[in-house]
Amino acid sequence: MPRRLSGFKPTGHLHLGNLLGAIRPTVAGQHDHESIVLVADLHALTVDHDPGQLRELTREVAILLLAAGVDPARSLFYVQSHVPEHAELHYLLECATSYGEAHRMIQFKEKAATQQQVRLSLLTYPTLMAADILLHGADEVPVGADQTQHVELARDIAVRFNGRYGPAFVVPKAVNPGFTGRLRKLSDPSAKMGKTNGSDAGVLYLLDPPEVVRRKVLRAVTDPGREIRYDPVDRPGVANLLEILAGCVDDHPRTLARLFSSYRELKEAVADSVIATLRPIQARYTDLEHAPNTVRDILAEGAQRARDEARTRVREVRARLGLL
Ligand code: TRP
Repeated sequence: MPRRLSGFKPTGHLHLGNLLGAIRPTVAGQHDHESIVLVADLHALTVDHDPGQLRELTREVAILLLAAGVDPARSLFYVQSHVPEHAELHYLLECATSYGEAHRMIQFKEKAATQQQVRLSLLTYPTLMAADILLHGADEVPVGADQTQHVELARDIAVRFNGRYGPAFVVPKAVNPGFTGRLRKLSDPSAKMGKTNGSDAGVLYLLDPPEVVRRKVLRAVTDPGREIRYDPVDRPGVANLLEILAGCVDDHPRTLARLFSSYRELKEAVADSVIATLRPIQARYTDLEHAPNTVRDILAEGAQRARDEARTRVREVRARLGLL
């Protein structure tokens, strides 16, 4: 079975874009893949952060992933910083990565351009991500377009290392989710639905109560004209609503477009389907929040298993580099 690895960075509350574009495919992939799911808390340190908030978000993200169907019996599930081999391999891989390569990363350039104090770890972040991927010998990494370049860097590093020092790493590839990986903000269909940058108004968070979901959806920006048709270029607002609906009810946006004759009808259907999608996740979230020992045990066991595996790989890498 191919190995698939997904990482979730706890820098904000998880939203519907994360669910449809990343969490759902990860949960579905548990049946026909060896699955590894990590909460990438070390990645959250690459930008200015608040320690208390990071602690809370790490816990929230972990519980939400479990609530959304990540099954610790099927996936190796843990928090990145609980496994120090990530940081160790990160350093070793930095020694197989060039400054130019890191500096060329589009996401680095974009993020660095908006900050006064750029952390050095923001530059080396893709090497940490490569360490996550290569530590576990992942074949496939499901990511959105913004992370594809980082997975390609992980490939390049693996190929280079294997060529120079001997075959230590599986060469991974990015797998892109379909249109559900590109949900945009309800308030601004030109911007990706995201936990960072700007206002929350157009972001549907997984823990938003039903009335908040409905309010956000009813206020969604649509396009000039009244006709409901799936056209991501000319009618991005309506296309986004149709994609949200399609993701929630598992159908095609184009097919769904034919069912509605007004924006109001479409929006009501979107609100209903999002609320119905979130309801069971929120219910399990509440249950798990009241069972802190269960969550703690799940994460401790995952970290233990991950460490056992990671140690073996890091030992081999050290040996190939002349460190043992
Ligand atoms: N960098 C990813 C993001 O910003 C999160 C992540 C960290 C990740 N490590 C990973 C994704 C490994 C895939 C594989 O969303």
